[in-house]
Amino acid sequence: MRKTGFAIAMLCALATTGAALAFAMNPDVRKRQETMGLIGANMKRLVEMAKGKSAFDAEEARALAGKISAKAALVPGVFEKPAHDPESKASDEIWTNWDDFAARAAALKAAADAAGGIDSPESLGAAVGQLAGACKACHTRYKR
Ligand code: HEC
Repeated sequence: MRKTGFAIAMLCALATTGAALAFAMNPDVRKRQETMGLIGANMKRLVEMAKGKSAFDAEEARALAGKISAKAALVPGVFEKPAHDPESKASDEIWTNWDDFAARAAALKAAADAAGGIDSPESLGAAVGQLAGACKACHTRYKR
């Protein structure tokens, strides 16, 4: 539980910094940031539900997880090109460790697919913890 709380706090901080960024001009960079932004928006709603800021709704939670899964499947494709932009937070290590980066994207998709089984506030909390862990596992290494 404590670990989940920490991960949630980390994510909220992350969502706030994301919103404050200026727009990247490079369309490839914009595309990948938009994909991440949508993952972030859906995750934010799951976190709010997990924290009790919105009512628990298993169907909605599963739908949000489904959207994260669908976007996670797009991550390797939108990051494939080593595009640069002053507003990008992507580390160059992505392209020198491509297989590892792709594996971390697959891990996010797997966590989102597992979250498709949410049926109680407890399972929502566990799923949010797993998802947050997958965000962190990639951001720690590949996001500046
Ligand atoms: C496989 C790696 C990977 C995973 C997994 C991942 N991210 Fe990201 N994320 C990145 C990278 C790299 C960037 C920086 C992209 C850039 O600025 O070019 C980023 C950027 C972001 C941004 C900022 C978007 C913007 O507008 O600039 C948000 C928000 C975000 N991620 C949320 C999340 C959340 C929430 C999760 C988990 C549910 C997650 N990410 C999982 C790699 C990942």
